[in-house]
Amino acid sequence: MNRITISLIKADVGGYPGHVSVNPQLIKIAEESLKEIKEVSDLLVDYKVMAVGDDLQLLLSHKKGIDNKEIHKLAWDIFKKATNQAKKLKLYGAGQDLLKDAFSGNIRGLGPGVAEMEFSERESEPLIVFMMDKTEPGSFNLPLFKIFSDPFNTAGLIIDPSLHNGFRFEIIDILNHKKIIMHSPSEMYDILALIGSRSRYVIKHVFPAENSKLPKDEPVAVVSTEKLYQIAEKYVGKDDPVALVRAQSGLPAVGEVLEPFSFSYLVAGWMRGSHNGPIMPVSFNYAKCTRFDGPPRVIAAGFQISDGLLIGPLDLFDDPAFDLAREQAITIADYMRRHGPFEPHRLPMEEMEYTTLPNVLKKLKDRFLDVE
Ligand code: 13P
Ligand code: 13P
Ligand code: MG
Ligand code: MG
Repeated sequence: MNRITISLIKADVGGYPGHVSVNPQLIKIAEESLKEIKEVSDLLVDYKVMAVGDDLQLLLSHKKGIDNKEIHKLAWDIFKKATNQAKKLKLYGAGQDLLKDAFSGNIRGLGPGVAEMEFSERESEPLIVFMMDKTEPGSFNLPLFKIFSDPFNTAGLIIDPSLHNGFRFEIIDILNHKKIIMHSPSEMYDILALIGSRSRYVIKHVFPAENSKLPKDEPVAVVSTEKLYQIAEKYVGKDDPVALVRAQSGLPAVGEVLEPFSFSYLVAGWMRGSHNGPIMPVSFNYAKCTRFDGPPRVIAAGFQISDGLLIGPLDLFDDPAFDLAREQAITIADYMRRHGPFEPHRLPMEEMEYTTLPNVLKKLKDRFLDVE
């Protein structure tokens, strides 16, 4: 079997201006570095450099499996190199996501986000790479549930018998560092009871059902679930998650994978990582976070994988079919903004714990008197 690993490793190493976008010089550094690595070593089969908002994205294909030291090290070194340039240009928050300085074998837990999966390449292997800015990993809960579980979204769940066995979701309890695997549709209600709390329970992987024709231990989707505030113990920007989703031939079709984004649902993040707002599907060209540092954005890059080569990307939201979702996002952004500092636009107190808000409360602490 032709096994391949796809690794998407991403970091904010400096914004331009503020938290809006990635400076083209940083993209060039990443591209040149990867080109050289591909030429002089056998580490990479292929690579693509992309960006959403202020996040630099390295998409790598290789034969080394997930959590590979050499692959993680090369990404880390590129982020370091880009950080040096970001510092020279005094870009905003240069090195923002490189939270720990000592690389010791794995980039997880150091700040960058990672979504990677190893699988046997099928006869034809469509892959969709989703990249979000100004939001958190739980923002993938709603679309992933719809893609793999909702027959009103995914016609194949009804029409195609090869999808009737359903799928298994691996869900992480971010607070307690525990995980659970649950089957859909048999445990659909229990799954929703968890993943509706999107800042606590996060879908990490989707696997085929036990009795599927596809290899049951090879993921069909994966999300980056690193929590920056847990690493830094303070607010350093939102996690700005990414996801890889495989499609077709016993899996949801590409159009079924994209369909949930025709609805601009609410996510947490946006300005200072402290506000609820609509997620807006945009083309690569519009992947810059402007209004109130947002609204939060998602881009979708379509690939066919051919013996590990990344054929693409096709800019999938560069399509008037998503115009209504964008219009809806703008309307909702306007509506939410008018709440100003009030919940539920601003996040609830528990979720503000790692921001600068507690410092305001600290300042006022001694002025509070007992109420008779
Ligand atoms: P597959 O079963 O080959 O994925 O075809 C389904 C399809 O093309 C739906 O658009
Ligand atoms: P990033 O997480 O994208 O750096 O955004 C941080 C922020 O505070 C935006 O207002
Ligand atoms: Mg930033
Ligand atoms: Mg960002």
